[in-house]
Amino acid sequence: MTGHPLLRVRDLTVGFTTAAGHTDVVKHLAFDLPRGGALGIVGESGSGKSMTSIAIMGLLPKGAKRTGSIELDGRELTTLREREMQAIRGDRIAMVFQDPLSSLNPYYTVGTQIAEAYRSHRTGVTRREARNVAIEAMERVHIRDAARRVDHYPHQFSGGMRQRVMIAMTLSMEPDLIIADEPTTALDVTVQAQILDLLAEIRRDTGAGLILITHDLAVVSEVADQIVVMREGDLVEQGTAERVFCDPQADYTRMLLDAVPRIDDEIGLLRTTSEEDR
Ligand SMILES: Nc1ncnc2c1ncn2[C@@H]1O[C@H](COP(=O)(O)OP(=O)(O)OP(=O)(O)O)[C@@H](O)[C@H]1O
Ligand SMILES: [Mg+2]
Repeated sequence: MTGHPLLRVRDLTVGFTTAAGHTDVVKHLAFDLPRGGALGIVGESGSGKSMTSIAIMGLLPKGAKRTGSIELDGRELTTLREREMQAIRGDRIAMVFQDPLSSLNPYYTVGTQIAEAYRSHRTGVTRREARNVAIEAMERVHIRDAARRVDHYPHQFSGGMRQRVMIAMTLSMEPDLIIADEPTTALDVTVQAQILDLLAEIRRDTGAGLILITHDLAVVSEVADQIVVMREGDLVEQGTAERVFCDPQADYTRMLLDAVPRIDDEIGLLRTTSEEDR
């Protein structure tokens, strides 16, 4: 349709001014995400990964100063009004966070929450239709017995299943871009592998672009086809996943890789021994 990538980020800089002075926490970041592509953003704690994702979502805190360009499908997002940006969030870009409990309301059933999220972005949808969308979305993320589980509350699900609920909520909105910020960090390793498989599967089946943010290179290894490595706000290395893993150019990337010496062994082991988290 167009020659635009799904997401095009150029010269993105995010900074804060505090009593101690001004600090840029994201510095001149630039990358493209093709339609249906999967980009991993990797770096240690404090490297600016979350600030990058929050800047894309237009959800930076009040004190933050942002410059540079963020284009979705060729449309500049940084100059949009809050109301226009709201329409883009949820409808076109959706986010999955580390801790699904903080994003789910304990007083409503998961079905109600998925249905309401869906209804808030669509006009003229009945409750019954939205409930069916919720059940379908839960089935798509492999929650067994979805027609019954739809009426359960968040606390009735395990951590891994709650993350599946969050991903179901994201899916029900049919976004073009899913940003997952440390989606598996709070989960144990077996469940991590299942959630990563699920994200990869969703990307394959829906054609949505995916940005996967993590401090753990092992996590992106199977899912991302492009990798951006960040350190203290700087982009230190960027390339295809294969190139970054097999032939890292920056010492920092090598250090991150050394921290996960048995990526292939571990992932292979997890894949063969993992059971459904229920
Ligand atoms: N409101 C704020 N005011 C000032 N500095 C902030 C603010 N929010 C974040 N920062 C700083 O921005 C830097 C980048 O933070 P960010 O949350 O993007 O890191 P991260 O790479 O996501 O780390 P983690 O892996 O721990 O999630 C950090 O040094 C952080 O202290
Ligand atoms: Mg973060």
